[in-house]
Amino acid sequence: MEVVIVPDAAAGGELIAEAIGALLSRRPDALLGVATGSTPLPVYRALAAKVRSGAVDASRARVCQLDEYVGLPPGHPESYRSVVLREVVEPLGLSEASFMGPDGSAEDVQAACEAYDRALAEAGGVDLQLLGIGTDGHIGFNEPCSSLASRTRIKTLTERTRIDNARFFDDDIDQVPHHVITQGIGTILESRHPILLATGEGKAEAVAQTVEGPVASIVPASALQLHPHATVVVDEAAASKLKLADYFRATYAAKPAWQGL
Ligand code: PGA
Repeated sequence: MEVVIVPDAAAGGELIAEAIGALLSRRPDALLGVATGSTPLPVYRALAAKVRSGAVDASRARVCQLDEYVGLPPGHPESYRSVVLREVVEPLGLSEASFMGPDGSAEDVQAACEAYDRALAEAGGVDLQLLGIGTDGHIGFNEPCSSLASRTRIKTLTERTRIDNARFFDDDIDQVPHHVITQGIGTILESRHPILLATGEGKAEAVAQTVEGPVASIVPASALQLHPHATVVVDEAAASKLKLADYFRATYAAKPAWQGL
């Protein structure tokens, strides 16, 4: 696992946007797995700026969703489909046809989950999967004690996550759904390059356990240790509990520029 410590969230956004730009120049129709929440927004802003300036051609990019609430009315502004269309698809100038996600309002949720896993495989698999991390160590909505082999399925959110996400629902936890669809940990590990971005002190403990703790389902993000090419990008605050921070800094500083992330 490569750990890159950046000064702040904007620098993390710029670094990952550069990696996405490099991927799109190698593979113009790359399938980009995107995450929601506050953390990835600097990535999307930096990438959209590169597209606007002509530095990156994203016209053939494809975008896919990581997770979704179950039971929000279609078109709800906080459904992750709405968020990804608003924050990623539209700013990159893409059409809805280039976007895929699970159906959070399907009557048969299990069938919708299986259909989404199949659709990802049929699309050739995810080339780059951007991830945030929950304060409880979740990736996607794989809450603690999720199977490390899990596929896309329905999950129940922890109280902690519902409290964390209430800010998107008028600070009213009662409006935050209990159930979600999430790519499984096994599904996420099939992406060719998972990149986890974490910023702020609130994520420092989860980051330390993810990077330096044992692989354990109590910290779902620790499963990234099993991936041959996983990158963790953290700002100084999120890195503040890493014992090997100096080693990670020295390693990245000495890395040949041509290698990219
Ligand atoms: P956040 O969410 O970026 O809004 O902190 C991260 C997550 O829950 O994965």
